[in-house]
Amino acid sequence: KILVNAGPTYEMLDPVRFIGNFSSGKMGVAIAEVLSENGAEVHLVLGPNSVKPSVKKIQIYEVMSASNMQEECVALFPKMEAAILTAAVADYQPVHKSDTKIKKQQESFLLELVKTLDTLTSLSAMKKKGQVLAGFALETNNEIENAKTKLVSKGLDFIVLNSLADRDAGFGKDTNKITIIDPDGKTLVFETKPKKAVAAD
Ligand code: CTP
Repeated sequence: KILVNAGPTYEMLDPVRFIGNFSSGKMGVAIAEVLSENGAEVHLVLGPNSVKPSVKKIQIYEVMSASNMQEECVALFPKMEAAILTAAVADYQPVHKSDTKIKKQQESFLLELVKTLDTLTSLSAMKKKGQVLAGFALETNNEIENAKTKLVSKGLDFIVLNSLADRDAGFGKDTNKITIIDPDGKTLVFETKPKKAVAAD
């Protein structure tokens, strides 16, 4: 039994607008598919507008915002043997959400944001003996150093580094290039591959 999350989150500003990101969900969905094909019971928590898995057995939970993502993952994790969190969860959400469409009355517009909960850190705090927890790190600079810091601060069994500096890696692409880092500092560097092959690695 394994939990995977994938895709972006959307933080609503008003009924027609949101703050989001370019995540397609492709990498996490590929991981969910490979796990399922290898016999795992996969529970996939999926952000808005993400690709959908082609494997029918995968149980999908559709969510919108970082707080929905947090709620669903926290509810599922106690029943899981492992979790791989690939979602591009928003780090900040608007302090106020307008119930009606915001009109363009002011010349400048200041948007106040507050930090969202970090799902990976929450699951790490709940983690029981025998459960495995892995995360992703998306970096643009000081990649290895930043990923190692995240591995420790989020209490993970391993972290998968994605660099936007690599060609053929990143949002919406069908290929990816990863480095897997474990708490002993062991790093495994992989070649650029289709996301399904990356998922298998
Ligand atoms: N993550 C999460 N909840 C958040 C933010 C991130 O669970 N609110 C998880 C992601 O799913 C990923 C990992 O934390 O597995 C790292 O995400 P990343 O965006 O690389 O880093 P952040 O923790 O957001 O830190 P920063 O934006 O400062 O790089």
